[in-house]
Amino acid sequence: LRAVVLAGGLTFEREVSLSSGTQVVEELTRAGLDAELRDADAELLPGLAASPADAVFIALHGATGEDGALRAVLDLAGVPYVGSPAAACRLAWDKPAAKSVVRSAGITTPDWVALPHSTFRELGAGTVLDLMVARLGLPLMVKPASGGSALGVQKINRVEDLPAAMVSCFAYGDTVMVERYVEGVEVALAVVDLGDGPQALPAVEIAPESGVFDYTARYTPGLTEYHAPARLPDDVAARAAEVAVRVHEVLGLADLSRTDAMITPDGEVHFLEVNVSPGLTETSMFPMAVEAAGYDLGDVIARLLAARAG
Ligand code: DAL
Ligand code: MG
Repeated sequence: LRAVVLAGGLTFEREVSLSSGTQVVEELTRAGLDAELRDADAELLPGLAASPADAVFIALHGATGEDGALRAVLDLAGVPYVGSPAAACRLAWDKPAAKSVVRSAGITTPDWVALPHSTFRELGAGTVLDLMVARLGLPLMVKPASGGSALGVQKINRVEDLPAAMVSCFAYGDTVMVERYVEGVEVALAVVDLGDGPQALPAVEIAPESGVFDYTARYTPGLTEYHAPARLPDDVAARAAEVAVRVHEVLGLADLSRTDAMITPDGEVHFLEVNVSPGLTETSMFPMAVEAAGYDLGDVIARLLAARAG
């Protein structure tokens, strides 16, 4: 089986993606596959036409790599790929939209407000600030409505810090999401479908040294402590697994996903977001979950590729 692993691209997460892609190629090669890393640039389609792959693995993070655009192009070109269909990616990439769907399915998610830049400008920072705090309280999480690797994400404890945090999030896109902060243990919930339906892998617990799981804490080895499996009571771990599978299903995802969630002290699972292209770097949680499940990452990805190659 000949696999092409797409990575890089022109997104804020280019470096992370190159790191994921390199790791995937290494793992696939170890698993005995002929795998090649390719940058997702303008040469993508001519390249795939000149030397076709049996299936493509998308190790792209952010923007076109995760928002469905690339998958729609591959659909048009008739290139089989591992992962979720374009429309499902578009939905998952839009954090407020995904939260709405997930909440309608009965899953708990922290209250939020999504604010486009034009509204922010019309209302003015003062009014926005009052609205947010009245509606959501403090502390607040401020995030780009679409984005990855925690870029732009900030926790706000004081009202006066909110406008600046929102302005810096607008650098990543047109809409900012302000979300109620939920205190608890953050977990990453990987899901994989090896042909028998979506299956949750053991939860990975995230304990950043600084208390904040930002870009540096994610990708600098040693700055975050991980526990795989997470140190959760069995019933809570089972509920988290159910939530992750349900999220995967209601959003129409396929093959693999990673839901990020907070577990409050009462054991409730709060959905934060889901990733259709989970990080696969040395310090990423999806590979840790695969290992905790007793699987081999190269073997898992090889099986997903083989299923798509048909
Ligand atoms: N967006 C990064 C790659 C992640 O979710 O793992
Ligand atoms: Mg994400």
